[in-house]
Amino acid sequence: MSAQDDFLKTIISHSKEYGFIFPSSEIYDGLSATYDYGQYGKELKNNIEEYWWKSMVRMHDNIVGIDSAIFMHPTVWKASGHVDAFNDPLIDNKDSKKRYRADVLIEEHIEKIRNKVHKEVEKAAKRFGDAFNMNQFRSTNPRVVEYDRQIEEIENRMRQALESGDLQALKQLILDLEIADPISGTRNWTDVRQFNLMFATELGSVSGEASVIYLRPETAQGTYINFLNVQRSGRMKIPFGICQIGKAFRNEIIARQFIFRMREFEQMEMQFFVRPGEEMEWYSYWKEARMKWHRNLGMGDGLYRYHDHIKLAHYANAACDIEFDFPMGFKELEGIHSRTDFDLKAHEKYSGRKQQYFDAELNQNYIPYVVETAIGLDRMFMSVLSASYADEKLSDGSERTVMRIPAQLAPVKIAVLPLVKKDGMPEKALEVYHKLKLEVNCQYDDKDAIGRRYRRQDAIGTPYCITIDQETLDKQTVTLRERDSMQQERIGIENLVSTVTEKTSITKLLTKLS
Ligand code: GAP
Repeated sequence: MSAQDDFLKTIISHSKEYGFIFPSSEIYDGLSATYDYGQYGKELKNNIEEYWWKSMVRMHDNIVGIDSAIFMHPTVWKASGHVDAFNDPLIDNKDSKKRYRADVLIEEHIEKIRNKVHKEVEKAAKRFGDAFNMNQFRSTNPRVVEYDRQIEEIENRMRQALESGDLQALKQLILDLEIADPISGTRNWTDVRQFNLMFATELGSVSGEASVIYLRPETAQGTYINFLNVQRSGRMKIPFGICQIGKAFRNEIIARQFIFRMREFEQMEMQFFVRPGEEMEWYSYWKEARMKWHRNLGMGDGLYRYHDHIKLAHYANAACDIEFDFPMGFKELEGIHSRTDFDLKAHEKYSGRKQQYFDAELNQNYIPYVVETAIGLDRMFMSVLSASYADEKLSDGSERTVMRIPAQLAPVKIAVLPLVKKDGMPEKALEVYHKLKLEVNCQYDDKDAIGRRYRRQDAIGTPYCITIDQETLDKQTVTLRERDSMQQERIGIENLVSTVTEKTSITKLLTKLS
């Protein structure tokens, strides 16, 4: 098993042991790729949502938020193209009986070649030291030039096959690249087939007949069909945005890697409506703004990178992902798409109702273009978990597991701990706790030795612990322990609320963002 697999397993078991995430229906042996958020998971999720919602809706005068229904008229999905084109090209290995996305197998192969290029560059940089000229090396080193040529050729073949829907060409590419199943190690592949990802269910009609209805695979369409409602009721002027946070459902064939790919998940999406012709400007704006939002958390700039799409979705004229360095490597965390006027135009056509905006400045009616930012809340959650987890050896030889969750996102902000369970300390600690809990999510704990209580808080990522001791009773001061440095300082009880909220509130993140 690779170190990456080991790390992912560690995160999964830590999440379960400390109440972040439980496998769903566990007492019935579980339901594959379905998870429940526990008591700390829900708090962390709430904080991520708050950071996103406030950064979008509160910080922009021209962005509002809505909450549309999961069920929509079935024609919505015909118009959006999901009935006909929301497919994954799948291929099975006949020996392992495992199913894969054909394009993902090819992309993983490309990634391996990229890693070879990366290694050559690293080796050369070491060899040449300060004199190293990367551009010159990459354009002249025969091995690197050959790898780049291979990548380009594979990408071209894949793009052509995907765009023309030529599934045989896709299979041929997998065979030509001699891609083997990572489990069986064989190249005994079936043909590639398309598989629609929408969940269908039935809605009982008045006459007793049932009609097919879909669980939404994205929140975005709920925004499009409300575009004019919001624009008119809110007297919104272009450019403006509409946000949503909500569940989405996809019948993913290969749902795995913990909460990275699930069949029921949550999205935080924003559709930004702009003048036709101005979409590329806004696309660049949001591409940069969203990266800034991620990096603002301070988990490490190197954990993020852009990936421009080779194959554009049926609705896009430009698209990229913000990728995060997950335990299984760099993978998509968020998508930024320039969706043109595809969706609104299609809804106008299928509904027969005009989806146009009157631009008073131009004295003109038009269907706006849309730039979308779409992030998976669960993936965002996983990125925070994996960047935060650390096993540490301390200077006194002991060990601890600490979740270095950004303080503003941490589920519990502060733990209130009486040093000992006597001499009036628990009573004083409870008094402080009851006052603090009106301001921030906090916890009272008086079980076990103080060291063990610190470890428990470290393991759920609590950024601050305060200890109530004899001095507290005498002088109204407490020790404030910071999670990452483990440094302690003495502060007055009257300053506690302001100190802790200053360090842990989402407002602080938002201020840094503006
Ligand atoms: N409205 C556009 C849209 O839905 P997407 O790239 O398919 O775009 C947006 O999805 C985000 O939703 C992804 O970047 C990812 O974070 C998340 N996501 C997509 N499928 C997911 C799944 N099966 N499980 C968890 N998150 C998923």
